[in-house]
Amino acid sequence: MTKDNKPTIFSGVQPSGTLHIGNYLGAISNWVDLQDKYNSIFCVVDYHAITVRQKPKELNRNILDVVKIYMASGINPEKAVIFQQSNISAHTELAWILNCTARMSDLFKMTQFKDKTKVDLEKIIEEIEKRTLKTFGNSETYIISSEVKKLVKELSNSLNNVRKSGIGLFDYPVLMASDILLYNTDLVPVGEDQKQHVELARTLARRFNSQFGKVFRIPEVEIRKEGARIMGLDDPTKKMSKSANPANYIALTDSPEVATKKIMKTVTDSGCDIKYDKKNKPAISNLLTIYSLLTGEDIKKLESKCECECKGYGDFKKKLAEAVGEFLISFQKKYNSFGDDEIKEILKNGAEKVKPVADETLRRVKEKLGIKI
Ligand code: AMP
Ligand code: TRP
Repeated sequence: MTKDNKPTIFSGVQPSGTLHIGNYLGAISNWVDLQDKYNSIFCVVDYHAITVRQKPKELNRNILDVVKIYMASGINPEKAVIFQQSNISAHTELAWILNCTARMSDLFKMTQFKDKTKVDLEKIIEEIEKRTLKTFGNSETYIISSEVKKLVKELSNSLNNVRKSGIGLFDYPVLMASDILLYNTDLVPVGEDQKQHVELARTLARRFNSQFGKVFRIPEVEIRKEGARIMGLDDPTKKMSKSANPANYIALTDSPEVATKKIMKTVTDSGCDIKYDKKNKPAISNLLTIYSLLTGEDIKKLESKCECECKGYGDFKKKLAEAVGEFLISFQKKYNSFGDDEIKEILKNGAEKVKPVADETLRRVKEKLGIKI
């Protein structure tokens, strides 16, 4: 689908949990900026959401709500295609085929899997080697120490986590690769946490092309310079996450009052000057990033403005809360203006537009594999 010969962008969000300003600032608002220049495809990745257990009624609601969030953010369905992943069966078909070229080692490396399951087999094995293998002259000898016992215990705990983990959660990045590769995607605009998954899509595409002949375009990842990793309000060393405690994030559906309370309670760094310094002042740097992206004002300008007008963090947080409140009011006004029928129609039209492209890629893949009769 290269109407007007524009390059293609593809991205998606899972309809699970509450979307927050990290999703908006790190990903969706970037899509809005790109939609004029690119042939744009935005997906609601419901098959990804079911890699952790969802309540059917909530999932159903969330699928429609994610589309409302895309639209309230400024995605225009006249310019960009919006569709639901499970409506296009080529996604899961291609994922199966890519599974047959993906390796366990590709997936064990994935940070999201390691974070969610607390499984990092490669690191444990590396540690065992490091702590037990000693070199004497030219020969290597294993030393059994009490530390080894500890590591073996860790390994066994990890294996227990592997046994409990759903196969879908492990295989998640392969489905994501298939989403991207079906549409001859040039660019994948995502937050920083997804970079590794896009790299896997590149690896799988190259591997398939070299084994069977060229079908896939190799996509590039597109990450914003600022805002690619909005940090948690309650812990600025970890990314803002929808699966965390609500004090961690500002939901796009939070009322301005709730958002203000959360902002006033954010952890603060030591010292009281309002300076962007990610390393030594992660909390204030995160708040300045949010402030700057929401208002369009440069961070340097905000720093000097706050120096004149704010007496310490409290004042600064109040100002930020006002800006966030203004943003939320206008966002939610748009969000609430869409009806479910309108959203269903958008999803239906979207699926009709992307289906021929996905089917054609799958047809070429099957031909190369030798299963097309
Ligand atoms: P998810 O919530 O995992 O479906 O993520 C949807 C999009 O938002 C992806 O492109 C993520 O990389 C991005 N994203 C999620 N959390 C953050 C964050 N804290 N900061 C910036 N981008 C994020
Ligand atoms: N894994 C992404 C996330 O959690 C969502 C996603 C699924 C995606 N398929 C995609 C993003 C394809 C970009 C392209 O954020």
